[in-house]
Amino acid sequence: MADKVRSLIWANETLRLIDQTKLPAVFQYVECRRWEEVAEAIRTMKVRGAPAIGAAAAFGVVLGAVEHRDKSPEQFAAAVETVIKELAGTRPTAVNLFWALERMEKVLKIQGDKPPAEIIEALRLEAEAIAVEDVKACRSIGSHGAALINNSDGVLTICNAGALATVDYGTALGVIRAAFDQGKDFHVYAAETRPFLQGARLTAWELVEEGIPATLITDNMAGWLMQQGKVQMVIVGADRIAANGDTANKIGTYTFAVLARHHGIPFYVAAPLSTVDLSLGSGREIPIEERASEEVTHLLGHRIAPEGIGVHNPAFDVTPAQLITGIITDVGIIKPPYGENLAKAF
Ligand code: MRU
Repeated sequence: MADKVRSLIWANETLRLIDQTKLPAVFQYVECRRWEEVAEAIRTMKVRGAPAIGAAAAFGVVLGAVEHRDKSPEQFAAAVETVIKELAGTRPTAVNLFWALERMEKVLKIQGDKPPAEIIEALRLEAEAIAVEDVKACRSIGSHGAALINNSDGVLTICNAGALATVDYGTALGVIRAAFDQGKDFHVYAAETRPFLQGARLTAWELVEEGIPATLITDNMAGWLMQQGKVQMVIVGADRIAANGDTANKIGTYTFAVLARHHGIPFYVAAPLSTVDLSLGSGREIPIEERASEEVTHLLGHRIAPEGIGVHNPAFDVTPAQLITGIITDVGIIKPPYGENLAKAF
């Protein structure tokens, strides 16, 4: 499926996104011609996954710029700055969003008071570069990480860190894809990932499409599987990695890391360097998104909890660096001490 299905496609001043809220039942693109539609798609998770929302937001800036192309250079720059600010407010945890928007803002500033048409072209080229670089980074993560998977391993993953969560190919699923393409014979366990079910809906879909042997489990089965010796490796994606290696990823990741340590199973994070935020000393500083209570009280639109119950719905947790065996990046596998080695990787 990688290379055949991209999470996003830019053509004719339109951003087409696979609507990830509809998968696996319906494969459908949502077409964004205005930056507000991109913002809405990120907020409602039609597009999700750290690198994918970064790339989508970059194209959102291009759409915003196109919308204001008839303004004077000063008014144009101010309007695009507002678009960037609004897009930055869509989701708080994945640093790739801010990283991509900073790149776009830098281009805007470098272009200065050139005519809007020229600036739009420069912004478009930058957004396309972000998308192309992401696919390259994922391929590289795949080739660095594939060697970690052995024949007959059970490999546990959570959420969706696949082609859908990136522009193409994936991070954690990129490693799994690369190992599968090398002819390795292993088995993937995909955790369903309550409450949004990215594992059951999206990772399971990608694995089935690729023909990679896999089994879907509910999140609370992971410990039992490990105790039975069915898991030899855990591999997850990341939304933000602090300078000391602490890693924010989908809620439930930390639980898997603790379980892996208890059972002596290696726990790997796979992410491009664009997910590393050296400005944050530790994971305590990573903002954690709280999402709507309906994601917990309802299943596919059907209420499963009584009215009146309190709900807590943090979308991410932070896995402390000391539980992480290695971080598989586009420039190689980074090992502890992360403080030193992540800085060196830049
Ligand atoms: O809330 P989501 O679905 O955007 O969360 C996504 C994840 O947690 C992924 O694991 C992470 O973004 C890595 S994607 C390559």
